[in-house]
Amino acid sequence: MTGPIVRPRRLRQNAAMRRLVAETRLDPAQLVLPMFVADGIDVPHPISSMPGVVQHTMDSLRAAAADAVDAGVGGLMLFGVPQESDKDGDGSVGDAPDGILNRALTALRADLGDTTVLMADTCLDEFTDHGHCGVIDGRGLVDNDATLERYRSLAVAQARAGAHVVGPSGMMDGQVAAIRDALDADGFSDTAILAYTAKYASAFYGPFREAVGSSLTGDRRTYQQDPANRLESARELLADLDEGADMVMVKPAMSYLDIVRDVADRTDAPVAAYQVSGEYAMMSAAAERGWIDFDAAVDESVLSIARAGASIILTYAAPQVARRLAARD
Ligand code: PBG
Repeated sequence: MTGPIVRPRRLRQNAAMRRLVAETRLDPAQLVLPMFVADGIDVPHPISSMPGVVQHTMDSLRAAAADAVDAGVGGLMLFGVPQESDKDGDGSVGDAPDGILNRALTALRADLGDTTVLMADTCLDEFTDHGHCGVIDGRGLVDNDATLERYRSLAVAQARAGAHVVGPSGMMDGQVAAIRDALDADGFSDTAILAYTAKYASAFYGPFREAVGSSLTGDRRTYQQDPANRLESARELLADLDEGADMVMVKPAMSYLDIVRDVADRTDAPVAAYQVSGEYAMMSAAAERGWIDFDAAVDESVLSIARAGASIILTYAAPQVARRLAARD
């Protein structure tokens, strides 16, 4: 009796062999760190559902951003948390030049120049008193086209403050075209758009709502996608590319790896995936109980997201993953 002719285990026999034949390789430059900066706080404010993640002060943001760049991450995605009293129906603090997000972009661009890719969340939910991603009409519904006007202004303010990339995350129809038009009209034709192309109405955003002190009471199902749908993301992709998206994103990541693969197969544009707050929180909580090894789980999940087809991965663990990748070389 001879053994099996095909012996896949030959290629798994030691670390050097596994490294030689690995199909997916990650580089720290593919990782993007989402960061929160809050107005009116003197010390960083821990986010209880995301151990190790904080709402930054301006000073701690600058230090953490420099550290992330030092770790080799490829970009930073900034979210602003205004004071409660500055929120209103239109989210006007979002495009105010002295609003927290725009001040933070200005500071980071001054500190970091072009050494990293500075990205901004282009959305209203952090800034509105009702917590929705758009403005509300007389019937209490999110008004798509009125919201586009607000996104145009937000994107221009963020580009002016120093963002290399704006990231419209509100899932309004036509948001990429509106923002591209506004940026070009104001002389920001070099500012790129990372489109949240396939963004699902997900339970995994739970901890983010704490992270940005969201005022939302309802849900986002009239604008974010139904988790039941797959082909819809292909249509969203065509629309975003047609409207001028430079990069496209799928979000969340871990429960939507099929969508990441679909999108990657359908476009040559860079594909990003966002490992969201709830994904981070799940791994943290299980690790706290001693049920999984946090670092190993995060590394495996990020690798899996890349294997599914994402070339850019947003994760709250970006600097740690980047440092482990660099140490392995
Ligand atoms: C909207 C936005 C959200 C996230 C990123 N951008 C919240 C939402 O859509 O409800 C979630 C990110 C995360 O959960 O980590 N501005």
